[in-house]
Amino acid sequence: MKRVDDFRLTFGKQEYVPIVVGGMGVDISTAELALEAARLGGIGHISDAMVNVVSDRRFDTSFVKDKTRLYKYNIHNTDKSDVKFDLDILADATRRHVGATMEAKKGDGLIFVNCMEKLTMNGPRETLQVRMASALDAGIDGITLSAGLHLGSFALIADHPRFRDAKLGIIISSLRALQLFLRKSARLNRLPDFVVVEGPLAGGHLGFGLDWAQYDLVTITAEVIQYLKQEHLSIPVIAAGGIFTGSDAVSFLEGGAAAVQVATRFTVSHECGLPADVKQHYYCANEEDIEVNTISPTGYPMRMLKSSPAIGDNIRPNCESYGYLLDGSGNCAYIISYNRELALHPDGKNLSVKDKTCLCTQMRNFKCWTCGHTTYRLKDTTRREADGSFKLLSAEHIFKDYQFSVDHQIALPA
Ligand SMILES: Cc1cc2nc3c(=O)[nH]c(=O)nc-3n(C[C@H](O)[C@H](O)[C@H](O)COP(=O)(O)O)c2cc1C
Repeated sequence: MKRVDDFRLTFGKQEYVPIVVGGMGVDISTAELALEAARLGGIGHISDAMVNVVSDRRFDTSFVKDKTRLYKYNIHNTDKSDVKFDLDILADATRRHVGATMEAKKGDGLIFVNCMEKLTMNGPRETLQVRMASALDAGIDGITLSAGLHLGSFALIADHPRFRDAKLGIIISSLRALQLFLRKSARLNRLPDFVVVEGPLAGGHLGFGLDWAQYDLVTITAEVIQYLKQEHLSIPVIAAGGIFTGSDAVSFLEGGAAAVQVATRFTVSHECGLPADVKQHYYCANEEDIEVNTISPTGYPMRMLKSSPAIGDNIRPNCESYGYLLDGSGNCAYIISYNRELALHPDGKNLSVKDKTCLCTQMRNFKCWTCGHTTYRLKDTTRREADGSFKLLSAEHIFKDYQFSVDHQIALPA
């Protein structure tokens, strides 16, 4: 009976344990979590979502306060087109977050940064360019492009000295999306170094519609592997979404995947950035407590706990401080929903915005409890403390359980 440890992910001559801990913004996949994955010989992700906020928390900078002060005059204005990111500050925050993480790296693994295209930041091209270029400047091992088709993203960093040496890959949820991306990257003579196939059971935003349940990771992964083989492209394929045990992972590795990307099981690790009480909500969840809804202003469906405080909240749009989802013209779907409800309830009483959420503020405050489909199984991965709470796990424990377990067994903590 095979274990994950019988396989290796290879990039050139280097070999890695084929376990990738996926990016989870906003700072849910912390540097500490990514560093553990790298120390154990796999690949860890940090995320650059709301990196100015993350920098303020990690390095005591005051980027958010400074931005709020600069745009204070606009707070009651429904037009947010004035609210721009300072690109030098964005570069500074990214370099701090990435640089400090890379300096702390130990072991033989790698650290990648997850870059979501949907963080349009009222300047989609220039902000994405700065985010990626600054991460490369600060020594990141690789970039995983996510939440978008990224058809122009490689071109934005084609002049960077590390464009051909860093590992660059993309998350896709269909063969079609991969084909579009490959066509674009072929023009730059730069193929991706890896492709993550993310199925419909993943956490965060989904690359599917509300008919997500009609798709399955096994089929899409097999299609992608088959296509790459037929095109004689040897690009490692990494399967993601709903892989809960080492044996689940082995079945993908035996089917031709080069590695698996996992996240949900690490949401209850000590190293995960979620507050301790939120981790208990994840543990307690039953299957019926999880939903895929459309409250994210990005337009992508998102999976979360139904008890997320973000759902139906009425917070004023906070773009002057954040504004990460403003499109290139200063619009965000939450602003429209909020203003509609405010017009119906001018005194602010009984105001509840049900169809969208202010994702920036809610993610920043850990009030939007996005999670994978298998979250309801987390309670089976631990023991209970004397006070009835579920025991948190070390990232090392979870990583090694994936790496060494057989027969769908899950090692409980000592
Ligand atoms: C709490 C949480 C937050 C996530 N946030 C992001 C994100 O910011 N960007 C992204 O590309 N994927 C995100 N994901 C998806 C993961 O990186 C990963 O691909 C997926 O969840 C793997 O499936 P699993 O959770 O069933 O193991 C998130 C997943 C979870 C559980």
